[in-house]
Amino acid sequence: EKGTYPHFMLKEIDEQPIVMRKIINEYQNENNELKLDTDIRSAMKAADRIYIIAAGTSYHAGLVGKEFLEKLAKIPVEVHVASEFSYNMPLLSENPLFVFISQSGETADSRSVLVKIKEMGYPALTITNVPGSTLSREADYTLNLYAGPEIAVASTKAYTAQIAVLAILAVDTANAKGIELDFDPMQELAIVANAMEVLTDQKEELEQLARDYFSTTRNAFFIGRSGDYNVSLEAALKLKEISYIQAEGFAGGELKHGTIALIEEGTPVIALATQKNVNYSIRGNVQEVVARGAKAMVISLKGLEEDDDAFVLPHVHELLTPLVSVIPMQLLAYYAALHRGCDVDKPRNLAKSVTVE
Ligand code: F6R
Repeated sequence: EKGTYPHFMLKEIDEQPIVMRKIINEYQNENNELKLDTDIRSAMKAADRIYIIAAGTSYHAGLVGKEFLEKLAKIPVEVHVASEFSYNMPLLSENPLFVFISQSGETADSRSVLVKIKEMGYPALTITNVPGSTLSREADYTLNLYAGPEIAVASTKAYTAQIAVLAILAVDTANAKGIELDFDPMQELAIVANAMEVLTDQKEELEQLARDYFSTTRNAFFIGRSGDYNVSLEAALKLKEISYIQAEGFAGGELKHGTIALIEEGTPVIALATQKNVNYSIRGNVQEVVARGAKAMVISLKGLEEDDDAFVLPHVHELLTPLVSVIPMQLLAYYAALHRGCDVDKPRNLAKSVTVE
């Protein structure tokens, strides 16, 4: 039930710190050590390449997961849109492990891939919010998201839960492979949970930004580099699916190769600046669009902020910034949809779980 909340989406956005803490508890033992099925650990260790298969928001979580698995556990990862992989399979490595990411566990596009790769004899791990679901039953292994039921069509807490579980999986694999990490993942996730709480308390500020930038616009661009690019794709999806504003996520450096032609006087461009090594470059991209009339909103990370930034995120571990930078994106989308009179929880043409290919 939504209780005092006007919409499930807002309730589910607010639940994200609680979900983070639940995941921390579920995935560690009494000695504060990571607790993962040893069979999953062995399958991860045996794989020479991971193929992440998912759709929509879960695909966007997969893009973030690739960063964790490659940077922490040193396994090459490919992330594929399920509906494409199904009919246009890439050349596979010798010992692949398939990781299906699905909130519902019922997405037909993902299931079609699962059926095919099982026929080929490959192992599969499903990361899902619904442990008894089809994708969970038909895979060899399951990791639970512990996000609780997600009712709003636009996925919010499942996305952050997927990212947190992927981080835990990457750290566990790194441990299993004897790779030393210089941070305590659970401690960093606890810091994220606190930061999420700070952000969900900043609704008034974000509602005002949504009013200023999205009340009447036809389109909007989200830009970011590196880890921020992944989040800008999700930010654009959130905004378009519930507010019907045409929105696109772009890699900061790619805009000038064509899309910048769409920038007009007043076009909203939301730039994420949470990554130290590309901070200078993304700010250059902001200047490029501002010079063409864009109305820029820079959302930066504490420590990297500049005077004109519209919003500053609390500091968290650099790899985990998607978990916090997505929160203002979700809230901006929520308020944009609300101000434009859209049905936030049940956007047109969409269903919560897509069981047709
Ligand atoms: C967007 C959204 C969809 C789903 C996609 C996959 O907010 O919810 O893009 O992420 O349909 O669904 P699952 O994760 O259930 O496989």
